Amino acid sequence: MRIVMLGAPGSGKGTQAELLVREFGMPHISSGDLLRAAAKAGTELGLKAREYMDRGELIPDDVMIHLIGERLGQDDTRNGFILDGYPRDLVQARALDDLLGRLGAPLNDALQIDVDAEQAIARIMRRAEKEHRSDDREEVARNRMQVYEEQTAPVVDYYADRGILTRILGTGSAEEVFQRIKGALQARSGP
Ligand code: AP5
Repeated sequence: MRIVMLGAPGSGKGTQAELLVREFGMPHISSGDLLRAAAKAGTELGLKAREYMDRGELIPDDVMIHLIGERLGQDDTRNGFILDGYPRDLVQARALDDLLGRLGAPLNDALQIDVDAEQAIARIMRRAEKEHRSDDREEVARNRMQVYEEQTAPVVDYYADRGILTRILGTGSAEEVFQRIKGALQARSGP
């Protein structure tokens, strides 16, 4: 399984990726987690990335393509992976296809989790009360949502054109959403 998780901020990409990992065991590669770990470690990349993240803007494509390329080059991805938060625009989507084409291991599925923007913002605000992620402030979350609409939404059509997109309704409990995802993956892989 080589899967990308798509969806607006707060749609549940990370939550569903974790549930998939628990069920199927492949590595969960979260671009946001990689960047937050680099920021926490105080690396040059991490500190620069935090400036973009705290404004709710995307980190430049060349940085992200390099970071994810390195991660996907590691041995634990040989039998599959769940990529969460990448690609985030068409440049990244094409770079990912090029990379996986060179590795002879193309994507199987792109899962788009659909949640109404206000519901997604409400989830982010609830998380902010507990976790204090520095980009979980309301004005930044709204900017993340706008960046998603402008730059990331076209990636959904890109995968639809490639015939590997599945749209999943992201409302209801995390477990309900997960059951929909499992059903969709089973339907795609056939009887
Ligand atoms: P990233 O870390 O990817 O954040 P995001 O896309 O804004 O997504 P979130 O983590 O907020 O939401 P999610 O969809 O994963 O939902 P989650 O499961 O966490 O990116 C952060 C920043 O890094 C970007 O803004 C950008 O600056 C930079 N970046 C990252 N990747 C990049 C790239 N490729 N290129 C350039 N820049 C990049 O759930 C959210 C909350 O809702 C949680 O509290 C969860 O418990 C709860 N929840 C989940 N499911 C449900 C449910 N069904 N019902 C109720 N609550 C739920």
